Amino acid sequence: MRQLLNWAIKKLRSSDSPVLDSEVLLSFVIKKSKEFLLAHPEFSPTKKQISQFKKLITRRAKCEPIAYLVGHKQFYGFAFEVNKNILIPRPETELMVEKILVEINKQKKTVLIDVGTGSGCVPISVLKNTKQIQCFAIDISQKALTIAKRNAKKHGVKIKFLRGNLLEPMVSRLARLKNQKIIITANLPYLTTKQYRQNPGLHFEPKTALVADKSGLSLYEKLLKQISLLKKPVDITLFLEIDPRQSAGITKIIKKYLLQAEVKIKNDYSGKKRLTIIDFRA
Ligand SMILES: C[S@@+](CC[C@H](N)C(=O)[O-])C[C@H]1O[C@@H](n2cnc3c(N)ncnc32)[C@H](O)[C@@H]1O
Repeated sequence: MRQLLNWAIKKLRSSDSPVLDSEVLLSFVIKKSKEFLLAHPEFSPTKKQISQFKKLITRRAKCEPIAYLVGHKQFYGFAFEVNKNILIPRPETELMVEKILVEINKQKKTVLIDVGTGSGCVPISVLKNTKQIQCFAIDISQKALTIAKRNAKKHGVKIKFLRGNLLEPMVSRLARLKNQKIIITANLPYLTTKQYRQNPGLHFEPKTALVADKSGLSLYEKLLKQISLLKKPVDITLFLEIDPRQSAGITKIIKKYLLQAEVKIKNDYSGKKRLTIIDFRA
């Protein structure tokens, strides 16, 4: 097994973490922990396992993300199924879950709506950590919704999944949800085409999950416009993940559509402006 690992480490020498990646992929193939690999250097994988491992290392050498190779990603302490049709959950998005939980615990009756749900990682992580609340999750991609539904089932949480453009599938339902606090969460595509082009590591993920027009803010602008047109009265807290360079741009758009909104921008764990929190009552 040592020889096999050495071969893999050499193949991945230009990657950031050749040893870790090789160990993760080998333990995935032989269905044993990384600790097992270290404690049993004499272990011999079967021919089939060796062939599967070599194929995965070849894909990793071409920069394919580990999460797609093993089919899952950890987020907020939970494992989420992923495939090439959905964005791999990012650690910086965990901040959003943390802040949503604080907001939910302040309220009596809350409805949570996640727009652009992808793997479903945000609402599922929230529901795993709070009392049962009514929850909806929307995505424009049916393929993403298929995986998100599987993730919700696996984690035993109840979410109504809807396919559509931003908040559109919820507009008539929202008119019926009177006197309830609404929390809308959105980690929508916010990269520019230039940022996407300059980062080949992203090219394995769906471009439609990453890139938006108007300096990356076009989808947030459309969402804020939809919210401004909702039937009043409304009591909404919105959580929007942004690129740190978009804080001035997003504030300008919020003021354009939700004039009386209160806006806060929170830093992520690496000190970058990442999360916009908007309180809007009208
Ligand atoms: C950046 S990914 C985020 C996925 C997930 N929320 C997360 O944090 O990992 C954006 C998601 O928004 C979806 N999306 C893009 N445009 C949309 C639209 N107009 N309406 C609804 N969802 C959209 C994409 O399909 C993708 O799943």
